[in-house]
Formats: sequence, C-alpha cells, structure tokens
Amino acid sequence: MGATIIDGRAIAARLRARVAERVSALPYKPGLAVVLVGEDPASAIYVRNKDRAATQTGISAQTIRLGPNTPEADLLREVARLNADPAVDAILVQLPLPGQIRARTILEAIDPAKDVDGFHPLNVGRLADGLPTVAPCTPRGVMKLLGACGIDPAGKRALVVGRSAIVGKPTGALLLAADATVTIAHSHTRDLPAECQRAEILIAAVGRAGLIRGDWLSPGVAVIDVGINRLPDGRLAGDVDFDGAAKVAGWITPVPGGVGPMTIACLLENTVDLAEQRRGRSRSL
Ligand code: GUN
Repeated sequence: MGATIIDGRAIAARLRARVAERVSALPYKPGLAVVLVGEDPASAIYVRNKDRAATQTGISAQTIRLGPNTPEADLLREVARLNADPAVDAILVQLPLPGQIRARTILEAIDPAKDVDGFHPLNVGRLADGLPTVAPCTPRGVMKLLGACGIDPAGKRALVVGRSAIVGKPTGALLLAADATVTIAHSHTRDLPAECQRAEILIAAVGRAGLIRGDWLSPGVAVIDVGINRLPDGRLAGDVDFDGAAKVAGWITPVPGGVGPMTIACLLENTVDLAEQRRGRSRSL
C-alpha cells in the first residue's frame, strides 16, 4: 500500500484564504517588511514569493533590497528604522546574509514584537519554554501539515533530522510542546537508520538530497520533508528518497509542493498575529 501524499499547496491555499479573511476584517492593513541583502538567486525567489503572497492576502508588503557589500552598520540602521515605523508590524531579514554581516547581531536588533520569524533570542526562549510566541514559519507549517492529516503528535516518537536554528530546533520544540517524544538527530548521530526505524513521525531538515531511504522507515510513519535540494539536472529533491519512502510511509510530503507553500502561508499568519498584538486587537498566539 502506498502513502497518502500530503498536498501542501492545497492546505496552504486554505490557510491563506483564512488569513485573508482575518485581514479583511481589520480596520488597518498589517505591514510586512522583508529585507534582502545581496544577490543570492534562491533568496531572491523566496523574497519575491513572500512579497507577492502578502500583497495578495491584503497585507501591505514592502521589500527592501540592499547591495551585497552593505556594511553591518547600514543594515542595523535599516532595522532600527523599521522597528520605529508604526506602519510596520512584521520584519523579516532574509537569511543567509553576506559574510561581512553577523546574522546573530541583526536578529537581536529586530524588535521582538515585530520578529515575524521568531528568531530573536527572546522569542526562541519563549518557544523553548513552551510559552505563547511567534513560532518560526517553517516549523509552524510542519505542525499544521500534521494537523491537517489528523496526526496528533501526543505520545508519538518524533524524529527531527537536522538541528538548525531555522527548522530543526524550533520544530523539536513545537513537537515537544505537542507532547511528542522527541529525538533530534544530526551529523554526529551514530546510527541514523536505527533512529529513523523507531520514528512514528519523521521530519527531515538537513539539506542533503535523498539522504533518508525508504528501507530505513517503519510502515505507517508520517514523513514531512523540509529539504529543498537542487539536483545536477536542475530538478528539486527533498532529503527523503520519495519513491522508496512512499511505498512504506503512511503519509509523505512531496518536494516541491509540500512544506514550501506552508512556510509562506505561516509567514502571512504570523504577520497578522503580530499586527493584532501590536495594535491591540489581540488574539492569543
Ligand atoms: N532563509 C531560509 N528560510 C528562512 C526563513 O524562514 N526566514 C528567513 N528570514 N530567512 C530564511
């Protein structure tokens, strides 16, 4: 029996429609500022997609493009300007940043109340503590995909492969908050196939095409593949060997069309959450 393919595009479209409804009920337009430094082609595509999706949802989106040699002090000044702008509810500085800029320094300069990525240490700490906060967009999207499939993490063995600050660690925190038994595997993990074999929920976020093989998995596992890897022939592939895994898993996300659209939909939702919080029509995050 084959796995159910999780249609991230359809689930994201429904979420975006719900966010658009929330926006249309507000007496103001939530404001999102996206900052892109340099000319990384993948980042340029992501930023364009974010700006377009926000505008389509009724959010007032602006993209600030800075040159690849921008000094750190100039970016800090831009962040300070956006922090002080009352029309801006949400700030996103696209990563990675050029080598002359310390990402940590920039992320710590963003007003935590406008931190739409949830990357400021205050918000990272709140998430680790299980307190209400903006959750990073991709991990939030992962949890929503599980929810849309009726998969409750409570009591289940969840394996997160990858320990990045953007995906692996916050996804582990959200799964823990949802009462899963969480393991985080990484490059030093001794026996990755054995860890995969135990998993009932598997989140792959390492950035290595086809690393996780179908014959490592247990029947019925829910596989969420966050990896987006460009193959030599130009096609995109996830971190999981899709064809092999789809024969064994209960659910699996495709790449593309799985997690990617959810990241953008959750960015829009985070923007509206922050706008409502800042402007007083608060709903519990
Ligand atoms: N680069 C890749 N993913 C992300 C993300 O979720 N947020 C930001 N700011 N940069 C990224």
